[in-house]
Amino acid sequence: MESRRDFLKTSAIATIGVAIPASLLSQKKTGQSKKSKAKNNYPIVVSTWNHGVPANKAAWEVLSTGGYALDAVEQGVHVPEADPEVSSVGYGGFPDRDGHVTLDACIIDEKGNCGSVAFLENIMHPISVARMVLEKTPHVMLVGDGAYKFAREHGFPKEDLLTKNAKEAWAKWILENKYKPIDFNNHDTIGMLAIDSKGQMCGACTTSGLAWKIHGRVGDSPIIGAGLYVDNEVGGATATGKGESVIKIAGSFLIVELMRQGMSPKEACKTAVERIIRKQPDYKDFQVGFIAMTMQGEYGYYSLQKGFEVAVHDKDGSKLLSSEYASK
Ligand code: GLY
Repeated sequence: MESRRDFLKTSAIATIGVAIPASLLSQKKTGQSKKSKAKNNYPIVVSTWNHGVPANKAAWEVLSTGGYALDAVEQGVHVPEADPEVSSVGYGGFPDRDGHVTLDACIIDEKGNCGSVAFLENIMHPISVARMVLEKTPHVMLVGDGAYKFAREHGFPKEDLLTKNAKEAWAKWILENKYKPIDFNNHDTIGMLAIDSKGQMCGACTTSGLAWKIHGRVGDSPIIGAGLYVDNEVGGATATGKGESVIKIAGSFLIVELMRQGMSPKEACKTAVERIIRKQPDYKDFQVGFIAMTMQGEYGYYSLQKGFEVAVHDKDGSKLLSSEYASK
């Protein structure tokens, strides 16, 4: 019987001499939209929701002093991860149905290297564990107990992330909802994209996921290509909202590929939202929002429902923008 090694060898030999179509070699390497004549606008950082404003401020401290985009996104999303008032990210995040705060996060550098953790408990900064996975392992993703063990081995302290507020909200939810319905509107992930002064884009995405989810549920945020995708030939995209819907369309990857084909960031985000509408008949019952940015720092965003907000910080300062949306 052919062993896996023999199979790989045969496949490699079979590949030699196969012509690569010129169309593949000449694929567009920029996400700058056909219509856009935008000049480079970086350093810049963009992120989801109003908790993106203080997060961007921390990222901007790195970017504005010539720092690395990977440090910027990591330090940026540390802010909501540590904020007990943010009930959808890190410490203070609402728990699952069984009262566990379980965290998902991923990070991507300018070379497309990725690190991710999912279903991680008792660690305040999952994004930094994800970065350790990127930098210290040959893997992309660690989950659950394995991710926790890895984090502890790398010096992350064990912390109780269930705040008094979150515990009370959970107790109330159990009484009112009798352990059943899932509220698909309660998950305001932070997704962040930054370009540093060298023109390198990196991204981060971190969340406590859907409140009252089934224990063990993982959303889009740690899934490369769903909650976050960055390709320095084109640009990046990140998502917030109902993770199941974003995973089904490989949302962030889809948007980056649409930009590669020449769509503007906003057109690409809108097209991804329209795909959700076309394919998911219950689209009126949940929220999804996308942000995208080209390598020139041209950004755009679009959401399924009213209410999505995008925080931007660049040389002109900080702003919070309301998104256009599809579902009327
Ligand atoms: N977008 C976050 C989640 O669904 O978990």
